[in-house]
Amino acid sequence: GERDAQYVISHIRTIPGFPKEGILFRDFMPVLADAKALKLLVDALEQTLPVPLDSFDAIAGLEARGFLFGPILATRLGKGFLAVRKAGKLPPETISESYDLEYGTAAVEVETDLVKPGMRVLIVDDLIATGGTAKAAADLIRRAGGSVVGFSFIMKLDGLNGLEQLGDVPSSTLVTMPA
Ligand code: PRP
Ligand code: MG
Repeated sequence: GERDAQYVISHIRTIPGFPKEGILFRDFMPVLADAKALKLLVDALEQTLPVPLDSFDAIAGLEARGFLFGPILATRLGKGFLAVRKAGKLPPETISESYDLEYGTAAVEVETDLVKPGMRVLIVDDLIATGGTAKAAADLIRRAGGSVVGFSFIMKLDGLNGLEQLGDVPSSTLVTMPA
């Protein structure tokens, strides 16, 4: 209910000026650190899935913060977990997808053989801002032979149109925060 939602939200911490002037950094580590808030968070993610439980085969989480709760949610839902890592960390055969940052570019990678042909994937991350990271991850999963059926975020930053980068794929977000 609303009290539970407020309990979780009250554990999200805002740090102004990180990583640079003018940015409000939204930190959910205090949610993870609190037993009750962590359980309520995973309950809420489970209850607000953007697509039915039987419409996906695996959860993909985005390094780093999507790794902190993606496997917990996967366990709850009886799914496997695919790690979408920042480039250069995975020794097996990988494919890579670049995306633009404010300064320069970054890339994400996945171990090619873990995405089975036609595998239906739900992508999770803590936060969507511009949507660049989530879009790169989705393009990566598709190029690896999977299909992206939904996105689940804890937080959405208001006014950045991040969800518009994700095409027609259904998404859910638990809380919208000012950017
Ligand atoms: C943050 C956040 C999202 C991404 C959202 O990750 O966890 O993954 O930015 O931004 P976007 O929608 O504009 O792409 P970041 O890469 O900063 O660091 P992390 O490794 O701590 O997750
Ligand atoms: Mg991240």
